[in-house]
Amino acid sequence: MQYDLTIIGSGPGGYVAAIRSAQLGMKTALIEKYDTLGGTCLNVGCIPSKALLDSSEHYHNAEVNFAAHGINIGTLQIDLAKMIERKNEVVSQTVGGIDFLMKKNKVDVFHGVGAFKDPHTILVSQAEGKTQEISTRKTIIATGSKPITPAAFNYDKKRVITSTEALNITKVPKKMVIIGGGVIGLELGSVYARLGTEVTVVEFLDRIIAGMDVDCSKELTRSLKKLGMIFHLKHMVTKVTSSKNQVKIEVQKRDSDETFEIAADYCLVAIGRRPYTDGLQLENAAVKLDEKGRVIVDEHLQTTHPDIYAIGDVIRGAMLAHKAEEEGILVAEQLAGQKPHINYNLIPGVVYTWPEVASVGQTEDELKEKQIAYKVGKFPYKALVAPGPVWIWMVWLKYWPTKQLMKCWEYISSVREQPI
Ligand code: FAD
Ligand code: NAI
Repeated sequence: MQYDLTIIGSGPGGYVAAIRSAQLGMKTALIEKYDTLGGTCLNVGCIPSKALLDSSEHYHNAEVNFAAHGINIGTLQIDLAKMIERKNEVVSQTVGGIDFLMKKNKVDVFHGVGAFKDPHTILVSQAEGKTQEISTRKTIIATGSKPITPAAFNYDKKRVITSTEALNITKVPKKMVIIGGGVIGLELGSVYARLGTEVTVVEFLDRIIAGMDVDCSKELTRSLKKLGMIFHLKHMVTKVTSSKNQVKIEVQKRDSDETFEIAADYCLVAIGRRPYTDGLQLENAAVKLDEKGRVIVDEHLQTTHPDIYAIGDVIRGAMLAHKAEEEGILVAEQLAGQKPHINYNLIPGVVYTWPEVASVGQTEDELKEKQIAYKVGKFPYKALVAPGPVWIWMVWLKYWPTKQLMKCWEYISSVREQPI
């Protein structure tokens, strides 16, 4: 089997690269070790977590917000098993869509673990012990990432879990401790807090979502506390031990020796993800990794071998589906002789909590550190509640100097009190 391009890994990076390369006339192969295509994002990441965020938001609204609208529905019940079943249906529909796209674009799909025999030969080992050999002119490594699970946390997939298992709990837990106040901790923490679980987040830093602006962290902390979530900031977990039905989490204050213990039904480890290159046998292809285990690439996403490229979570940069997709398109277009470009400063990040938090570009702290001059403009989102007049004010605001913002807000606040 001879291919122009072989892609190892069928996540958002891999499958998008496959489609683009086939569209551009390259004979393309895609290798995936699991039975379903779509990678972390479609199977155990973006899609299932958003499905549960959606379902849990409906429940929370029914429980907390409906009455104010005059909708009384009596005693509510959660059928978490049904919620998970719906989530699984959403996943299988989405994953099925990728199968269809591969067929439509005439991409040959191989299921099995891909490994380099040499820089232009990939071996695909299937579960039944069968091995296929693929000859390829170029290869893209798109093998993604896995959760970081330090030995001291005794990850057992039952009581000490990662996001993968947290997407499949079928009975609402009474208590859950989450290690890490990053994106996964807050999104999945929101799901369970909305369903009635007492959620405690232990975060090493002095704020949550530390990759975004301080203002965003403050607002989101306030809002999640209202939801009932408990935060131990500037704390670290030193050890986690589990028994059949319970888990014990040893917590230490970051800046002192003070310690305490929390007991819970589950401990969710959400302290980041590591690039995944296990089993690829990169040494047979002269592909090198950096000190964090990421495949080293240059600005063209070319690895240390000129015919091998790498994209997505397995290389440097944000671990986001749309970033992986853009990189897949970039490599395919480059191989077809085009001159694509990615502006990494324009990749947005969104945390799908309530409220959702979105950011793009550099944070205020980063600008300060780099001594780049900047202007701050703030507009309270609350004002959007009053549609008509606010639109007018927003148009005016566009032409007003920043210092007028507060005066404007005072006025909007006063008119919002009156019937519109
Ligand atoms: P992956 O999606 O990880 O795919 C890699 C694929 O390679 C996998 O299918 C794996 O099985 C396969 N593979 C690995 N090694 C081999 C091998 N040797 N042979 C064959 N196949 C192999 N991002 C967002 O932008 N928005 C979100 O809302 C969002 N939510 C998330 C929620 C959760 C809970 C998690 C965990 C992640 C979320 N992400 C989100 C991140 C997103 O999932 C990743 O950034 C994205 O999946 C990375 O894509 P990728 O193609 O690089 O790798
Ligand atoms: P993260 O990097 O977002 O957050 C990890 C947090 O854990 C950090 O705040 C860190 O300070 C803290 N931490 C690390 N070690 C700790 C320790 N020992 N004790 C206490 N706290 C500790 O990683 P997370 O949440 O696991 O997500 C991984 C990646 O998945 C993200 O980087 C993101 O790119 C992606 N993702 C994206 C989503 C989205 O776009 N909506 C949703 C979910 C995941």
